Amino acid sequence: MPSISEKGRQMPASPIRKLVPYAEAAKKRGIHVIHLNIGQPDIKTPKVALDAVRNHKIEVLAYSMTEGSETYREKIAAYYEKKDIHVTAKDIIVTTGGSEALSFAIGTIMDAEDEIIIPEPFYANYNGFATAAGVKVVPIASSIDTNFALPPIAEFEKLITPQTKAILICNPGNPTGYLYSKEEIEQLATLVKKHDLFLIADEVYREFTYEGRQHYSILQVNGLEEHAIVVDSVSKRYSMCGARIGCIVSKNREVIQTALKFAQARLSPPTFAQIASEAALETPQDYFDDVIEEYVSRRNVLISELQQLEGVKVAVPQGAFYCVVELPVADADDFAQWLLEKFELDGSTVMVAPAAGFYATPGLGKNQIRIAYVLKKEQLVKAVHILGRALKEYNTK
Ligand SMILES: Cc1ncc(COP(=O)(O)O)c(C=O)c1O
Repeated sequence: MPSISEKGRQMPASPIRKLVPYAEAAKKRGIHVIHLNIGQPDIKTPKVALDAVRNHKIEVLAYSMTEGSETYREKIAAYYEKKDIHVTAKDIIVTTGGSEALSFAIGTIMDAEDEIIIPEPFYANYNGFATAAGVKVVPIASSIDTNFALPPIAEFEKLITPQTKAILICNPGNPTGYLYSKEEIEQLATLVKKHDLFLIADEVYREFTYEGRQHYSILQVNGLEEHAIVVDSVSKRYSMCGARIGCIVSKNREVIQTALKFAQARLSPPTFAQIASEAALETPQDYFDDVIEEYVSRRNVLISELQQLEGVKVAVPQGAFYCVVELPVADADDFAQWLLEKFELDGSTVMVAPAAGFYATPGLGKNQIRIAYVLKKEQLVKAVHILGRALKEYNTK
């Protein structure tokens, strides 16, 4: 048989999706599976976005412009302006989700064997994008004990080698829920300027910050124009994961011109989804106020329920809608699979994402899971109750 590539062999399976066959088998046995594993919000997509597609009188579903439609990119620039981020349509390429923006960013600035420093735990697919590009992820551990704050800058500096091209952060963080302060962003900015590196910020959860905390974008830092690359997406902002629209934003002309060549190779982003995403920009602020209020109350319920479980430690998220939870188990992978294969409480069980896949350092996160609180409060309370009973049974088996 012809062999597949070494790269293909090394491509990591998604820790969020790899337990799906066990969940499907549990469902076939009639068990209700509560999904805490995936960041698919249950919030309704804004009507204005869906109506724009419903009412559109398109006759030929043509390619759009490679960089995304002019009107959409202008409106995205106006959206950023309201966030005190000064960019123009020329600085933006519309992509097929934040996912494509990430792979364009890596492809644009990095060659095989180059290194990218990423605070861990991080969005697991960063490993996949890096592997696909032959790029080496150099992790720097953040800790549950400091709520996953930015590790000391001196620790970053120790990891910089001649191969280092960039630092990648996710702000607010998936899976940590950590929101970087203005000071932390400025420290990173100083570091990347000193060593002439790029700073990539995945800001797809920008809107989701709690208790009045302000998001501070790397595009707001004066003097960072040549270094800063932002990855963005409509997926979570408007509960439009299926639209597959995102963008890459940079004031660095060479970055955008190079990313455009990657974009030309895939022709264009989806046409209908751009129509929906453009209309979504009309979403009134009270939509976000309601959504954020809902996430805050879900977070509060979830955290206080988790804190009552013996031996469980949880970092309190300040943004996004995930948290990392440390469990009194040696191997969260085994526990997560056991939950689906062997456990039920009154016909229900829970599906969680084992956190080891969100780390690049072998062994880290083995006793941790990630929970996405994208379900109603009653479901979250029930899920934590199930988790508590399951931990007792698992630890006495
Ligand atoms: C941190 C982060 N970045 C990027 C993405 C990619 O999202 P999409 O491709 O749907 O825009 C996700 C999706 O969950 C994410 O959590």
